[in-house]
Amino acid sequence: MTPRVLLSAPEDRSRIREIILHSDLFKPSDADCVDEMFSLAQDKPTPDNYRFLSCWLDGTMTGFACYGWESLTQGTWDLFWVCTLPKWRGRGVGGALLCEAIRTAADEGGRLMVVYTSGTPAYAAARRLYQAHQFVHTATVAEYYHAGDDLYIYSRKLREAAKTYEPENGGER
Ligand SMILES: CC(C)(COP(=O)(O)OP(=O)(O)OC[C@H]1O[C@@H](n2cnc3c(N)ncnc32)[C@H](O)[C@@H]1OP(=O)(O)O)[C@@H](O)C(=O)NCCC(=O)NCCS
Repeated sequence: MTPRVLLSAPEDRSRIREIILHSDLFKPSDADCVDEMFSLAQDKPTPDNYRFLSCWLDGTMTGFACYGWESLTQGTWDLFWVCTLPKWRGRGVGGALLCEAIRTAADEGGRLMVVYTSGTPAYAAARRLYQAHQFVHTATVAEYYHAGDDLYIYSRKLREAAKTYEPENGGER
């Protein structure tokens, strides 16, 4: 089956938390952070708030993404989180989430999408995902997260993206 990406529904909140907690990467404090972002997004679903997408495959919510417009900019969007449950990785879930985030940002006039990640081996799959979707490694901030853990900044121009991707029209979970 093909992954289906939908706007996250209120009932996805606990599933998103579980995805973070079972990511084999993130900490419980990260789950708290995402949960707070989700709550803010649900309470005030305005264009300048966080956006959440849920990805469904074979009747299971397998991943999510969180992104949004960066308020101090004109047309720059940030991808804050993207995560797939480990046993569903390598089936296009991360790519489908990224494509939909790129498409909606471009449709709303976004110029640029930026993502921060780590340069450590644990984030190699994330870096490959971004590069596979035309993100360019734009900058490195040495030892940003902690000693030996650099910040990698990727960015992608969005001008052409609106034409590249077909919209998701919702559908069955
Ligand atoms: C990064 C991450 C989100 C990628 O998710 P994913 O669902 O595995 O992503 P995809 O399936 O779209 O792509 C992963 C790989 O599977 C391949 N793939 C995609 N669809 C496929 C399919 N149908 N059949 C076979 N391979 C496929 C992709 O080409 C890609 O290969 P590569 O890693 O060799 O380049 C996931 O690894 C993850 O959750 N990591 C932990 C959290 C994280 O690092 N998040 C980012 C930082 S916030």
